[in-house]
Amino acid sequence: MSAQDALKTLYESVKEVGIIGSCAAVLGWDERTYMPKGGQENRANQLAYLSGLAHEKFTNEKIGELLKEIEASGQIKDEFSDDGANIREIRNEYDKAVKVPKKLVEEITHTSTMAQGVWGEARENSDFPKFLPYLEKLVKLKRELAECYGYEKEAYDALLDDYEPGATYESIGKVFEAFRSELVDLVAKIADSKKRPDMSIIEQEYAVDRQKIFGESAAAAIGYDFGIGRLDETTHPFCTGIGPGDTRITTRFNPKHLGQAFFGIMHEAGHGIYEQGLPTEHHGLPMGDAVSLGIHESQSRMWENLVGRSQPFWKHFFPRAQQMFPLALGNVKFDDFLFAINDVRPSLIRIEADEVTYNLHILLRFEIEHAFFKGDLEPKDVPAVWNENFKKYLGIEPPDDARGCLQDIHWSWGMIGYFPTYTLGNLYSAQFYAKAKEDIPDLESQFEIGNFAPMKGWLRKHIHIHGRRYRAEKLVEVATGKPLSHKPMMDYMRTKYGELYGF
Ligand code: CO
Repeated sequence: MSAQDALKTLYESVKEVGIIGSCAAVLGWDERTYMPKGGQENRANQLAYLSGLAHEKFTNEKIGELLKEIEASGQIKDEFSDDGANIREIRNEYDKAVKVPKKLVEEITHTSTMAQGVWGEARENSDFPKFLPYLEKLVKLKRELAECYGYEKEAYDALLDDYEPGATYESIGKVFEAFRSELVDLVAKIADSKKRPDMSIIEQEYAVDRQKIFGESAAAAIGYDFGIGRLDETTHPFCTGIGPGDTRITTRFNPKHLGQAFFGIMHEAGHGIYEQGLPTEHHGLPMGDAVSLGIHESQSRMWENLVGRSQPFWKHFFPRAQQMFPLALGNVKFDDFLFAINDVRPSLIRIEADEVTYNLHILLRFEIEHAFFKGDLEPKDVPAVWNENFKKYLGIEPPDDARGCLQDIHWSWGMIGYFPTYTLGNLYSAQFYAKAKEDIPDLESQFEIGNFAPMKGWLRKHIHIHGRRYRAEKLVEVATGKPLSHKPMMDYMRTKYGELYGF
């Protein structure tokens, strides 16, 4: 077989796995939106069947042989060409998939399924000791997984690779460390300020049907295409890219709060715009897929926060919001509204945190999971270290573990190495945004007249159309000319919150 034929055959096989994943995505979307409760068990069977089938097809020896043949032919000269990136990433995934014994995969799936149930009860009763044996077991199993994968410096890097391919503890740890110390100072400064927004402006009656129209109009204005997408309701909002021409976002409405659904829709629309911008001709291959969780999150946070909570954005949308909600906003001043949607205050729960303190919630988790995974911290000591550091970073102390180290589902799922992608997303978003502003001087004055096409165009050109051509670290350098840094984020927050809080 010629190398060209081998490539073609390989792509066909990998795309077949992509089709299975796409079918699973429809079932997953339905499960979380419209499926009756009674369908749970059958749905779990359907999804387990499809993921088994996908695994079987992807780990077929034929894939390994084709990869070898293509690599040996010397035909791929540039690892950043379309074919180069596809082969590089298929190779990485294939090696990982075949290295892990089926028994270990099953044990992790089984343990995490059990652990999620126990975690739910433990959180309800704030009973960490109940969850502890499961956490210990999951750490042990994930260490085994990391050993199967292999790594250069430390085992944690092998887990990171599942969510942020190529990232290492060392590379992101350095950036996070510098970020944390400056962030703690900024949070303290805001806490010292006498100025506080009037939160009743957004925390009052907002009719849900109007919220839906308003949210959809904003999503459409920033470039989420409803011709190839839709918006539905769910309990835990998400976005799913089912395939070319079909990307779906979800939200949850709170009749007594304007911001929750609105910024939730902006967030998911940001994910959706990314999915809609991936090159369709590569669907099912790495070149048709998103780079990493961190890069995905950079797209959602960009539209939610850097654009969606900005003054220029609301110059356009505030008069429209006043028309839509005359009772709530008719007599509200622009500046007071802007302050209310940018309220910053230390709080206990990560998913309710504002854009400034949010990162401290993540950095805390990153340090703790790295320590217990490495063996520097006994899982049983997690609550004590959590509370101590929480106080240090945010100035408040969790009254119990339910509102402390038991609040998130991630560790019970065995997802260690996942948390840092949230803060990476925030840092990437600020760095991309700063560069876009430099490249397009009137970017923000365009927002004021409701034109978001230049922003979306910049993201398309520098990020979306590349699929997984570059890994995140490299993509940031190629798109912005600089390595990842916490500085653009700090600059953005200092300027914005200095103005709002008067320092
Ligand atoms: Co997100």
